[in-house]
Amino acid sequence: MSQFKTIDNFDLNGKRVLVRVDFNVPVVDGKISDNSRIVRVIPTLKDLKARGAKIILMAHFGRPKGKAVPEMSLLPVVAGLSEALGGEKISFASDCIGAEAAAKVGALGEGEILLLENLRFHAGEEANDSVFAAELAKLGDVYINDAFSAAHRAHASTEALARLLPAAAGRLMQMELEHLEQALGQPKRPVAALVGGAKVSTKLDLLGNLVGKVDVLVIGGGMANTFLNAQGIPVGRSLCEHEMADTARTILKEAEQRGCKVILPSDVVVAAGLSAGVATSVVAATAVPENEMILDAGPASAQEIAEELKSCKTLVWNGPLGCFETEPFDQATNQVARAAAALTKSGSLLTVAGGGDTVSALIHAGVEQDFSYISTAGGAFLEWLEGKTLPGVQVLQDVA
Ligand code: 3PG
Ligand code: MG
Repeated sequence: MSQFKTIDNFDLNGKRVLVRVDFNVPVVDGKISDNSRIVRVIPTLKDLKARGAKIILMAHFGRPKGKAVPEMSLLPVVAGLSEALGGEKISFASDCIGAEAAAKVGALGEGEILLLENLRFHAGEEANDSVFAAELAKLGDVYINDAFSAAHRAHASTEALARLLPAAAGRLMQMELEHLEQALGQPKRPVAALVGGAKVSTKLDLLGNLVGKVDVLVIGGGMANTFLNAQGIPVGRSLCEHEMADTARTILKEAEQRGCKVILPSDVVVAAGLSAGVATSVVAATAVPENEMILDAGPASAQEIAEELKSCKTLVWNGPLGCFETEPFDQATNQVARAAAALTKSGSLLTVAGGGDTVSALIHAGVEQDFSYISTAGGAFLEWLEGKTLPGVQVLQDVA
C-alpha cells in the first residue's frame, strides 16, 4: 500500500485542525436511526483532543445540490455527537465558510470541537472547486480526512482541500485502509469473496475485478439467478436479468481461466411471492417451478459455503444471499454469516465486510461484533472492490 501521513506526523497542539468526517447518517423522523458513523470517528476526535488540537468538523448530509435545504442541516447531528463524546459541548456554525464560521473557529479553545454546516449547501463542494476549497482552508492549519466512506467522491473537502494544507488520514481512515489492504491487497490465501445483492448489472466491474484476485467467488442473492439462467437453468419467476446472460457467461469463463472457483447455489428456497409467512419449499437449483421465485439460497448451499470457508484464510463479504429482510428468507445469510463469525473467533478466518445493505444483513444475523472488520462505507467500499482508485485516498498519497 502506498503511504500517507497520519495524525502522528504532526504537532497539533493549539493548531486549527479541519477534519473531514462522514456524518451522512440515516435519519428517521428527525432522529438518527444508526449512529455508527458518528461512533466510529470518536477515536480520532479523542486523539486530536488529547493532542490539544482545535477541532473543526466538516461533513455533508444528503444531496442538497448546492443550495441550503433546511431539512438537510447537520444541526441534528450535534446532539448525537455530543452524546457519543459523553455530553461534551459541540459548537455549530450555520455556514461552513464565511465570517460566522471564522469567528467560531477563532473562539475555539484547545481540545474543543466545532461542527460546520453541510458542505453541500455550496455548489463548490461537489464541483471540487478550488475557490471554495480555499475558503475552507482559511479555517484551518492542518487537514485530516477521516471519511473513507466519502473518499470515492472527488469533492472540495475530500480532494482539493488536501492539496492546500498539510494533509493526513484520521484513525478511522487508517483502519479502513489497513483492513481493506489485508482483505484484498496482500491477503492471506486462499481468499474468498461473497457477493450478493439484486443485480449483476450494478456489480459487473466488481465481479470482473474479483475473479482476478480471489480464489473462491460465492455468488448469492438475485444476481445468482442471472448466473443460473445464463447456464440454461430455468429460474421461474425469479428476479433475473435475462439480458445479462452473455455478460454472466463471460465472467464465469474469466473465472475459470484465472483459477477462481465460483460457487452458485445448488439448492434454493422458493415461494409464490415475497411476503412473510408465505408457503416455501426447498428445491434443487435445477428444479425451480415455473410459477415460483427463488428468494434465498438453500440449506445445502449454505452448508457448502460454510465448509468452503473452513479452508479459506480471508473473506470479503458484500451483499446478502437472500431476501433477508423478510423471514424466513434470511436463513442462508444468517447461517453463512454465523459460520464466518465462528471461524473468525477461532482465529482461522479474517472477515471484512461492507457496502450497501451488507451491514444490516450482518446485524440481523447477530454477528456484527464478531467479524474482523466492518466498513462504514457503502459506495466507497463497492468502488474499492471494483479496484478503482478512490480520489480521497489517492490525494493523501499524492501529498504525503
Ligand atoms: C455515503 O453515504 O455513501 C457517503 O456519505 C457518500 O454520499 P453520496 O453517495 O451522497 O456521495
Ligand atoms: Mg452513497
